Amino acid sequence: MSTAAPAPKANMGQPVPRYDGVAKVTGHAQYAADVPLANPAYAYLVTSSIAKGRIDGFDLTEAKTMRGVIDIFTHENAEKLKEIKFFSNGGYASTTIVPLNSPEIAHEGEIVAVVVAETFEAARDAAHRVKVKYTAETPTTTFDSPGTTSARAKGQNAMFKEDPKVGDFANAFDQAEVKFTATYETPTQHHNPMELFATSCVWNGDQLTIYEPSQFVYGLKNGVAQQLGIDADKVRVINAYVGGAFGSKGSTTPRTAIIASLARRLNRPVKLVASRDQGFTIATYRAETRHDIQIGASRDGRLVALRHEGEEISSRADAYCVGGTKTTTRLYACPNVDSLVSIVRADRNTPGFMRSPPEVPYVFALESAMDELAVELKMDPIELRRVNDTTKEPISGKPYTSRSLMACFDEGAKTFGWDKRAATPKSLADGDWLIGYGCATACYPTQMGAAAARVRLQRDGRARVEIAGHDLGTGAYTVIAQAAAERLGIPYEKVSVSLGDTRLPPAPVAGGSNSTASTCSAVITVCDQIRHRLFQALMPNETLADKAKETVGVGQTPASKAEQSGQPLDREKAFDALGVSAIEEYGEWKPEGAPKDSLQALHSGLVRMVGGPDLGGKIAYAFGAEFVELRVNRFTHEIRVPRLVGAFAAGRIMNPRTARSQLMGGLIWGMSSALFEATELDERYARYVNDNLADYLVPVNADTPSVDVILLSETDEHIDPAGVKGLGELGNVGTAAAVCNAIYNATGQRIRKLPVRLEKIEV
Ligand code: MOS
Repeated sequence: MSTAAPAPKANMGQPVPRYDGVAKVTGHAQYAADVPLANPAYAYLVTSSIAKGRIDGFDLTEAKTMRGVIDIFTHENAEKLKEIKFFSNGGYASTTIVPLNSPEIAHEGEIVAVVVAETFEAARDAAHRVKVKYTAETPTTTFDSPGTTSARAKGQNAMFKEDPKVGDFANAFDQAEVKFTATYETPTQHHNPMELFATSCVWNGDQLTIYEPSQFVYGLKNGVAQQLGIDADKVRVINAYVGGAFGSKGSTTPRTAIIASLARRLNRPVKLVASRDQGFTIATYRAETRHDIQIGASRDGRLVALRHEGEEISSRADAYCVGGTKTTTRLYACPNVDSLVSIVRADRNTPGFMRSPPEVPYVFALESAMDELAVELKMDPIELRRVNDTTKEPISGKPYTSRSLMACFDEGAKTFGWDKRAATPKSLADGDWLIGYGCATACYPTQMGAAAARVRLQRDGRARVEIAGHDLGTGAYTVIAQAAAERLGIPYEKVSVSLGDTRLPPAPVAGGSNSTASTCSAVITVCDQIRHRLFQALMPNETLADKAKETVGVGQTPASKAEQSGQPLDREKAFDALGVSAIEEYGEWKPEGAPKDSLQALHSGLVRMVGGPDLGGKIAYAFGAEFVELRVNRFTHEIRVPRLVGAFAAGRIMNPRTARSQLMGGLIWGMSSALFEATELDERYARYVNDNLADYLVPVNADTPSVDVILLSETDEHIDPAGVKGLGELGNVGTAAAVCNAIYNATGQRIRKLPVRLEKIEV
């Protein structure tokens, strides 16, 4: 055990090393663009330099004469691809904008041509010589730009189901002893996963193989098949490893079908590795948001009225929104709640999911407001949360399956040394540095989707697990191997795992932090099928227990009394009784409350995720408490964060090592979202300015000297067979508020618009 591999507490698995660790650090792990192809042609994208208008024509003369150029495709000669439904409306697509289908331009950086050449360098060189003639119109960029249109989100986007409300907000706010109102803003941000947006397409007769980093291989397979108008079973997507994704690789982006179509036309494998700057516009991003928060409270700190109104930017074509009010309206006890989310349309590429999409911006607003309220009430901010802690969500009174929020605050506060905080701003200093302490709540919905898996157990105790899950660097291989090892009673080292291939049984999109819960529950279900066969072989006369009474979780096989007694399985004896050397089982698991067609839909690459605010009449969330120590230089206004502490509870922790890494990354990103990250917009051209890793700031080691993750023991029997809540996106929720709360504590200045840069500090 070590800092990186914390000793497991109750209801935690072992901190075994990563399954894919050696392959990755030795360079053996093959990412999509690493896969060698036979005689590939290389594609390079040309993207639009205008945000709105149309293409009048191309001058390809110079580009075409470049040595090695095979062909150049534009809307004038490319295949017209079929339109597919938007992801947030139950389809596959990241955007319904289809490049190369028409001369119309919907956003800056839209794909307008693809150069294909014998080498990457030739394709890139020629791409820079493609001349596009445009008629440009003035675009609308962001909030308050002339020409935006705004409308209520409900009804525009199928994933955004409601504007939660309860009681009589207006009246309660009016009567409240203490009233608080403020506006908060968060900027545009881009995911920038280390692995670029790469796609290789290889045709073998009418069979297409796609190598592409994806959070959802079944979705990509079906989405591309629809665009090409071919049978989905002719398409195979392979990606054993994904070099980061954070939401940007969850839906089908336009590039894949374009490359597949060109490969078919040229009758040759085509490989694309889009550049870093192109990644800002050919995929999705976190859109800027605005929030109006109104809170009415009694003098003792109890919330009596809460209103959260959010506005988000989306494209003209698509009504994307994150809609975090489903979380912020349910986080604390409050009898009168109101909310409204609106989508503001501008001439931009369609935004999308980015790590903790709803919670990062919306919880920033709420948790900043809670801190401001604590100041007004002269209350300790942790005590304010304690007074408003609840075991039932206030909108429809559903009980939380478990909620360790205050336990997280208490543990975190102890480790952090919260008692050393000075309540009055500017009262703690170290030389030229003003010191501030801040805290905030972290929370993330427990979500899951139906999943299938295939498991083979051999007589000699080796096992193989096959599931089209995805390891985004998160530890999916590791926890899936652990789940199988635990259930089959064999060592972790004896389990091999295959992921990321549509030839394997389907798993849901690796998004919404559902992967561990969904894939491990499916794997446990299938392992139980194997155990059941083995027990039956040993005791053929044992009657099966009544299924309804004795099974755990949907989809599991009935357990015999022998199995349930917990007696150890004599594996070799059972195999000998069966007369076989291996057993292979395919099985499916469906979460409680999931629609009947969940598995059929999943095979077609569609997800019916359940959980969060509604899990079979209950509400399921993981929680955390985050603490920030921050220093502001009195003279230079430089901001430093010497310490981050987070305490988290998320049901069963499959592996404290991988869990700690996830949460540590989350804390760092959360801090970064407050102090570093912002995509700067040139409002004249609706263009992203800092579209590279030199100008798009992210923290480095020197910016994060100490990050402490505390894992709390929590058992939740109301969620899924694995008992897992999921924590991939928990860590970066609330952190931005904790940072701004610490800035206030250090300086007395409240900053409500992110990112915080030194020029905003006025002390
Ligand atoms: Mo995550 S933004 O749900 O991939």
